[in-house]
Amino acid sequence: MANIVIIGTQWGDEGKGKIVDLLAEYADLVVRFQGGNNAGHTMVVNDKQFISHLVPSGILQGKTCIIGNGMVVDPEVLIEEIDYLIKEGIPVTADQLRISEKAHVIMPYHRAVDLAREAMKGDKKIGTTGRGIGPCYEDKATRRGVRFIDLQDSEVFYEKVSTLLKEKNFYLENYLGAESMEMELDGIIEQYSACAERLAPHVANISVSISDAVKTGKQVLFEGAQGTHLDIDHGTYPFVTSSNTLSGNACCGSGVGPKDITGVVGVVKAYTTRVGAGPFPTELLDETGDRMQQKGVEFGATTGRKRRCGWLDLVMVNNAVRLNGLTGLAITKLDVLDGFETLNICTGYEVNGERIKDFPASLKTLAACKPVYETLPGWPDDITGCTRLDGLPENTRNYLNRLEEITETPIEIVSVGPGRDQTILVRNPFK
Ligand code: GDP
Ligand code: IMO
Ligand code: MG
Repeated sequence: MANIVIIGTQWGDEGKGKIVDLLAEYADLVVRFQGGNNAGHTMVVNDKQFISHLVPSGILQGKTCIIGNGMVVDPEVLIEEIDYLIKEGIPVTADQLRISEKAHVIMPYHRAVDLAREAMKGDKKIGTTGRGIGPCYEDKATRRGVRFIDLQDSEVFYEKVSTLLKEKNFYLENYLGAESMEMELDGIIEQYSACAERLAPHVANISVSISDAVKTGKQVLFEGAQGTHLDIDHGTYPFVTSSNTLSGNACCGSGVGPKDITGVVGVVKAYTTRVGAGPFPTELLDETGDRMQQKGVEFGATTGRKRRCGWLDLVMVNNAVRLNGLTGLAITKLDVLDGFETLNICTGYEVNGERIKDFPASLKTLAACKPVYETLPGWPDDITGCTRLDGLPENTRNYLNRLEEITETPIEIVSVGPGRDQTILVRNPFK
């Protein structure tokens, strides 16, 4: 029996969706445990692209998909996603998609506060996705959030929303200088009650569902969203998201104990990208960065923003190895490096005349860090058709070997294109 967690090791968009879709074949349940529709996970099957924001990426493999209690869910977005999948001929029955009764609900005022705060911050903004993620987690932490279980009880729901809306409107208008909320209490109640009714058959005690499955020998795949360096505790705070994105949260965010987790695969893009603001030591503001951006089609799957690009930063990856207890790596987008004469990998930072190997907590220090590079020869070949490790050019294999050496972690998967079949499964973590 194996239960595996998939985690992004960088700043998100490492290709987690593709890896989850691939490994879902060997799992019975696929569980998301944090974040919300700030995530955009892309899967490409038979040349057709799907982007999921809330529904776990196991849905295309017909697996039971679970929205964990650690998530924040915008019900309208979820319904749109379900409708889209059904339209595409992918079944999403109540059995197939379960939503934790304890997951928090994103309300219209969360989105409004998110957008108004960012606008107020001007050039100091975080560059959030504007989906209301931070304000929703904020209400969760201050113990007045709306959970799916509350949506099912019209009295409790009305009481909660009517109390909160007064405060949110006051804050929006008088502090953030935003326009008064278009939607009034009655409109919100009506809209969310309709969503509640539609989603009711999916709402369940998912901790029990997962535990029952594990007891009968079923295998679980936990799908992380965002990435290690967007974690609220361990990321580049405050340029982070508002949840714990690390493997440890797979347990809290879905109601399972750590003894059930048997492996953690860290997804590593073969270079580094970041969407949104914040320091980025290996960022390339030159032609090389533009080349990665263009060849890798680096646009955000959620907001469409151009992603910032730079060389692979192994200080970050090593940080992710430790923080998540990674047992294996999945290297993605290796094909994007095809044709580069030489490739840099960052193995340390130089700051104030000193060499450091550990990712600093201070943003000021991080902003002052200069990457120390090791340069490796590139390969001229097109590797997008390679399906075996020994089919890769020698320099590509040397590059991968060097990554394994520096991270002291085995590479289990190599991805050479966006398609499900453009993958080299070196060692299946489920076997
Ligand atoms: P996620 O948020 O981690 O799931 O990643 P995204 O879906 O936001 O971004 C990854 C992008 O890279 C998507 O457009 C994928 O289709 C694409 N992709 C994934 N793996 C590969 C790969 O090995 N090569 C190439 N060229 N594209 C890939
Ligand atoms: P996936 O799962 C990349 C970034 C935003 C912003 C910061 C805070 O597709 O990898 P938020 O809306 O969460 O309050 O924004 O986090 N961010 C992501 N960047 N991939 C993601 O998800 C992200 N989710 C949030 O750009 O910098
Ligand atoms: Mg993404």
